[in-house]
Amino acid sequence: MLKIVTGLLILINITMEALDAIFNRRSIRQYTSEQIADEQIEILLKAGMYAPSAVNKQPWEFIVFRNQDTMRRIVEVHPNASMLLKANTAILICWDEQRQHDIGYGPVDCAAATQNILLAAHSMGLGAVWVGIYPRQPRMEAIKSIFRLPDHIRGFSIVALGHPAEKRSKPERFDKQKIHLETW
Ligand SMILES: Cc1cc2nc3c(=O)[nH]c(=O)nc-3n(C[C@H](O)[C@H](O)[C@H](O)COP(=O)(O)O)c2cc1C
Repeated sequence: MLKIVTGLLILINITMEALDAIFNRRSIRQYTSEQIADEQIEILLKAGMYAPSAVNKQPWEFIVFRNQDTMRRIVEVHPNASMLLKANTAILICWDEQRQHDIGYGPVDCAAATQNILLAAHSMGLGAVWVGIYPRQPRMEAIKSIFRLPDHIRGFSIVALGHPAEKRSKPERFDKQKIHLETW
């Protein structure tokens, strides 16, 4: 009996943690100068790799970067990426055209991986934000050149990471008007 109750409590706790991350994660764009440990980065990458993907193809690839010059080069070509100048680490999420289930599935799978990384970062007390690359072709071309991506590897998003230097409150987003029952 005690085992069942303990099991249930653990399950409830895990569920609460997942919901906490979903509801309280916010885009964090200001960071302290504190380093992120390699072990933390590995957990984030693992979270990305545990995302669902079409036919379980897992077509993603990840480039972890900290180089300030790389950050600067991205900011030069991306109008909404200035937070990278303060980020301790960033992850470029890519897909492999040759490993995706079918045309168009790679970006969908990468979106799931990106969200997993953001949720994991939040639950580890890190600040993170999704920097959009796909579907803007000029940004994809610039990223290809900066990271010397082979032709079959496409840049999807960048997650900028750091220890948070800002707090953002939870906005109200639940909207019953967006819910339809059975048909439109
Ligand atoms: C596809 C996509 C692209 C985004 N691109 C950027 C970006 O380039 N720069 C940025 O600062 N935020 C970017 N964001 C973050 C959004 O601005 C943010 O998620 C939105 O304002 C909601 O705020 P929240 O993440 O705090 O809930 C992007 C988000 C998504 C899903």
